[in-house]
Amino acid sequence: PVSTLVLISGGGSNLQALIDESRRGLPIAIDAVISNEPQAYGLVRARDAGVATRVLCHRGFPDRQGFDRALMRLIDEFRPGLILLAGFMRILTPAFVARYRGRLFNIHPSLLPDFRGLDTHRRALAAGVRVHGASVHYVTADLDGGPVVLQARVPVLPGDSPEVLSERVLRQEHVIYPLAVRWFAEGRLVLGDDGRPYLDGQVLDRPRL
Ligand code: GAR
Repeated sequence: PVSTLVLISGGGSNLQALIDESRRGLPIAIDAVISNEPQAYGLVRARDAGVATRVLCHRGFPDRQGFDRALMRLIDEFRPGLILLAGFMRILTPAFVARYRGRLFNIHPSLLPDFRGLDTHRRALAAGVRVHGASVHYVTADLDGGPVVLQARVPVLPGDSPEVLSERVLRQEHVIYPLAVRWFAEGRLVLGDDGRPYLDGQVLDRPRL
């Protein structure tokens, strides 16, 4: 199994999906969960699953560079082959993303490149889109702009609130994140030197479930 770290800031439902799938044969070993928020419920999920936890609170650092340097030191203690952002609500410095190039993924609650950034469900409803979704992507220095490897489409239904829509999207996140991780862990998904993602040797052009 690929030694894996999961970085969280909140509820950790994507973390839970990854834990559950790793018990069902997804070939990753989650060596630790790192949170920048001491109160993140995902830390409870990790402990309940017997996974080591670390807290590195960003509020103790004067600037982003300092926090990221400490985070890199912490990560490197584990020598991970894979780093998964799962509701990790921090912008990472270029030095950080360069260090883990090709083995750092994020899940984002929109059909990228639509609705980068925060508050995606409210903005999707305000824009009147009828199809919304989620994306797994490689992390690059371009915020929410790294190459997409897998997306799921989710219908927007009449009367949806951001909360209801976000629940519908999360259910799909829990499908696509473990699947993309499986591709990576099986050695089928790689980030090319050209900056494009390849699955089984073929360029991936934003595949959607
Ligand atoms: C998920 O919807 C994830 O896509 C989003 O935060 C939520 C975390 O839920 N991530 C971002 O918005 C990244 N900027 P979870 O803690 O239950 O997995």
